[in-house]
Amino acid sequence: MPSVLFSPIKLGGVELDNRIVVSPMCQYSAVDGCATDWHLAHLGMLVNSGAGLVVVEATHVERHGRITHGCMGLYSDESEAALKRVIDFCRRAGSAKLGIQLAHAGRKASAQRPWEGGGPLKPGQDPWETIAPSALPFGPGWHIPRAMAADDFERVRGAFAAAAQRAVRIGFDAIELHMAHGYLAHSFMSPIANQRTDHYGGSAENRMRFPREIAEAVRQVVPRTVALGARITGSDWIDGALTPADAVFCAKTLKAAGFDYVDVSSGGISSDARTPTTAGYNVQIAEQVRATGIATRTVGLIVTAQQAEGIVADGKADMVALARAALDDPHWGWHAARALGVDVKRPNQYLRSAPALWPGAAAAR
Ligand SMILES: Cc1cc2nc3c(=O)[nH]c(=O)nc-3n(C[C@H](O)[C@H](O)[C@H](O)COP(=O)(O)O)c2cc1C
Repeated sequence: MPSVLFSPIKLGGVELDNRIVVSPMCQYSAVDGCATDWHLAHLGMLVNSGAGLVVVEATHVERHGRITHGCMGLYSDESEAALKRVIDFCRRAGSAKLGIQLAHAGRKASAQRPWEGGGPLKPGQDPWETIAPSALPFGPGWHIPRAMAADDFERVRGAFAAAAQRAVRIGFDAIELHMAHGYLAHSFMSPIANQRTDHYGGSAENRMRFPREIAEAVRQVVPRTVALGARITGSDWIDGALTPADAVFCAKTLKAAGFDYVDVSSGGISSDARTPTTAGYNVQIAEQVRATGIATRTVGLIVTAQQAEGIVADGKADMVALARAALDDPHWGWHAARALGVDVKRPNQYLRSAPALWPGAAAAR
């Protein structure tokens, strides 16, 4: 039977060669938001992974919206030019479509790189003021954010739209908003972080209001030729907080706002939340979200070709994203194709690598 994983899929006006996506992954290697040679090497490698789409890491819409000093941004002409250099290179180097994740870290901003501890920046490490729906920290010892006021709402909405316009100018095939992992948009949706008493807090509709406003502002400036999506939260994994039903509500809201797809992730709302470590832990939630009719991707401990094929062939999701497995095996898609008995595009320079090397194939020339 032909592989469903390796069948094409259309997201809005964009067709992906297959349903494998390299998940966005922070590299903490930018300089004042600007991509560097590390990104040339990293993304230049992943465009030849065999994935249909490679999504650039969380790229922040304002300077103070970055997680760390090394995080990417798209808030200045310099950061736009630096990312364009990388994306132009990727177009020459490989065949995957290219997406970008636009983000604002909210109360999880002003943090150390993971290999420097990953905690909040200390005095002397150039910390900055963080913003959030309510003045509640991410966890013990974390910065106490400033509760957002009217001008913050306007500025952040505008920053998302401006960054999306920069991403369109750079030539991305897909733009996706980060509405998960405890960052600003997610923190509005979750009652754990949002205890506002105005029309941005309280009911599920009110908590969804600001993420929806951002989505609408971005939809207005992104042409239909670019796929538009969002990474959403399938569960907070905390009693009394966001559940799969909230993910369904979020997906319906984004579909109504004209979004082409969602990606179901989960966790990260507070330092004491524990995300499961079982294979495909978001898959069952993705299946419920997909029933809304929006193209649905999922992520989280998807590691083998057979597992990925099963998820899409069984109709649990339309696409799968891989993060750690793609770092571990940057040709994951090539090897998955081999396991499933199909082949993928390779660059001319690497054409002799396979399938001539496979057992039983004609001897390599
Ligand atoms: C090094 C690294 C950086 C990450 N950075 C991001 C990011 O920028 N945006 C995001 O939404 N998720 C990020 N994640 C989470 C992954 O995209 C993914 O959702 C998570 O690792 C689970 O998938 P996996 O089991 O395939 O690794 C990151 C994960 C890793 C390992």
